[in-house]
Amino acid sequence: MSTQPHALRWSPVCTLDDIAPNTGICALVNDRHVAVFHVTGETGQLFAIDNYDPNAQASVLSRGLIGSLGERIVVASPIYKHHFDLQSGECLEAPENSVNAYAVRVEDRVVHVAL
Ligand code: FES
Repeated sequence: MSTQPHALRWSPVCTLDDIAPNTGICALVNDRHVAVFHVTGETGQLFAIDNYDPNAQASVLSRGLIGSLGERIVVASPIYKHHFDLQSGECLEAPENSVNAYAVRVEDRVVHVAL
């Protein structure tokens, strides 16, 4: 039996120019609805979490507002306004409804997500 950890599979999602600064887009990656965010500013970077908000039971997180709570960069779900930490996927108001967070990288301006 192999003890190798599940290897990450990188999938191209869009180009960097497809994501307006401080917004997100959604993409279907290996049958998962993923929300990818481009956050600008000092800590500017890309984040990817599930697009599905378990609180609202809807795929809406890519349309949420990006902001910060203390040190955390979060997105507020458009429906019930729960905040999700973009780094970890943790739902701050309802941790039992946290979502997955995924690694993101850019190669030649193409955004890739690892699932
Ligand atoms: S990819 Fe957009 S909602 Fe699923």
